[in-house]
Amino acid sequence: MRSIYCGAVRPAQIDTEVTLCGWVDRRRDHGGVIFIDLRDRDGIVQVVFDPDDQANFELADKVRNEYVIQVKGIVRARSEATANKNMATGEIEVYGKAIDILNVAQTPPFQLDSHISVGEDVRLKHRYIDLRRLDMQRNLRLRSSITTEIRNFLHDNGFLDIETPILTRATPEGARDYLVPSRTHEGKFFALPQSPQLFKQLLMVSGFDRYYQIAKCFRDEDLRADRQPEFTQIDIETSFMSEDEIMAITETMIRKLFKETLNVEFGDFPRMTFAEAMDKYGSDKPDLRIPLQLVEVKDLMTEVDFKVFSAPAKDPKGRVAALKVPGAAEKLSRKNIDDYTKFVSIYGARGLAYIKVNDVTDLEEGLQSPIVKFLPLEVRKALMERLEAQNGDIIFFGADKGKIVSEALGALRCKIGADLALYTTEWAPMWVVDFPMFEELDGGKFTALHHPFTAPSCSPEELKANPATALSRAYDMVVNGTELGGGSVRIHNQEMQHAVFEILGIEHDEQREKFGFLLDALSHGAPPHGGLAFGLDRLIMLMTGSESIRDVIAFPKTQSAACVMTDAPGAVDTLQLHELNIALKKKADKKAD
Ligand code: AMO
Ligand code: AMP
Repeated sequence: MRSIYCGAVRPAQIDTEVTLCGWVDRRRDHGGVIFIDLRDRDGIVQVVFDPDDQANFELADKVRNEYVIQVKGIVRARSEATANKNMATGEIEVYGKAIDILNVAQTPPFQLDSHISVGEDVRLKHRYIDLRRLDMQRNLRLRSSITTEIRNFLHDNGFLDIETPILTRATPEGARDYLVPSRTHEGKFFALPQSPQLFKQLLMVSGFDRYYQIAKCFRDEDLRADRQPEFTQIDIETSFMSEDEIMAITETMIRKLFKETLNVEFGDFPRMTFAEAMDKYGSDKPDLRIPLQLVEVKDLMTEVDFKVFSAPAKDPKGRVAALKVPGAAEKLSRKNIDDYTKFVSIYGARGLAYIKVNDVTDLEEGLQSPIVKFLPLEVRKALMERLEAQNGDIIFFGADKGKIVSEALGALRCKIGADLALYTTEWAPMWVVDFPMFEELDGGKFTALHHPFTAPSCSPEELKANPATALSRAYDMVVNGTELGGGSVRIHNQEMQHAVFEILGIEHDEQREKFGFLLDALSHGAPPHGGLAFGLDRLIMLMTGSESIRDVIAFPKTQSAACVMTDAPGAVDTLQLHELNIALKKKADKKAD
């Protein structure tokens, strides 16, 4: 039906006949001449109909936005005055000889112009129209070329693409499971995979050595701008490779991808320990584009006459940290500081003390702050020295439990970095390594910081003796403050796996019931193995500069994990429920629970 894409017509085709198919982006009537901007996935071309050929002219007059038409015409050069430098096809136009209306369209529920902002619910409800917008076309095309590049890279490096089940048992990755009731096994449920973690490990036990899969994962968790309940991983597992080797090959893959798709050169990725990341950036995914750092000042505050500071300074789990923002005094108003105080409260901070450095040589009068009166002169002096403060700086403080201070000042660091446009580089890729094995919850319980199959960097005995301080062989790849991927060397012997389950409070029977197949496999010649998974959607988000993960997924879910187009999740009929042996509670009964 078509000889060339609309967006592909160029001066090379001048004086030749082309047949185009596409959607009417715009139709204009200019003093008896009709211009149609015809759009397909490649772009837009201008088609002109004049009244000489009355039948075609009348048809062209009838078309409306989003009609689907076929046009035959001759390509001709535009005059200097009418050429459009902003359009790829702007040097030519197609002189229409025949037009066929292939389908009519209702007036679209919103304009497809990317400059017009439309409520997301409306866009998602009519996603098939929304996806016609050039931005969305560009995002999904980039997504396709990225997955192709990745497949090629992994194939060239000996990785096998192997599918793993979607109907399976729970894989603990820290979120709630999506469950699927079984009709044939009354009262039993499949879980959709939170990741292919256990299956990819089993493939290593089977000797496949290098596996990958572009895999759908399902997690019923609170959604944010970079989280979807159903998302895609580039999932990788290898045997007989150390963490350095795994990091090297995946780093090469990402470096090549950025070079080939965006022409961006990354050097070697710096590595930072988890401890350093938390200390200096208050985050396990530091955004290294921002030059600000947190500075520990706990030791200076133990004796000050300000409980807000001295109490956490004396608490082994407390932290008192400072964030210096050079030159901020003239950029941030009192209102900005109040807004930042509200902002840090989201992270549990109970306030945001600050010092405005007016004259660093005058410790009596030169420091403007609601708290400086509580700080003896020698503390002020030590503070200014440690922070290398200069006139015009503002120093913010956080004092509380370590986790709260790190999270609050870590987030404030990123916010101020964005607000004051402090970025020093466009791209900052890195690795975070040496994660703790476990996170200690209130009440002395432990949970796995990554997942329970991650190998610790110590023996089972040492692990049991010091679970709170044990480190793991895990690594995360972070780009511009986004966790792009994470992985680890895995546990490949039963004894260690038992030890980890025990520390997590999973008793022997439960271990057998939930993970018996894995424990058995570990005793049948499991090789040393490890891998990593990248969040594909997050990768595309970063590479396209999209604000929302929904802009890089063809049919995403809303913030409340629903699909407004298909109206999923939906009710099912009684017969289906009956077959599944499921009875729904009435609303009133639910409330009574
Ligand atoms: P993890 O849970 O860190 O590791 O997930 C790997 C990567 O997947 C992305 N990701 C998400 N993307 C969008 N929406 C979500 N809800 C979501 N959750 C995670 C992130 C993350 O870095 N099995 C391990 C990997 C391994 O150890 O090999 C795993 O799933 O970019
Ligand atoms: P207050 O004594 O509560 O009026 O607090 C004095 C100053 O300390 C105010 O600027 C508060 O924002 C700040 N502040 C209070 N609690 C904290 C905290 N936990 N961390 C940092 N600053 C705080």
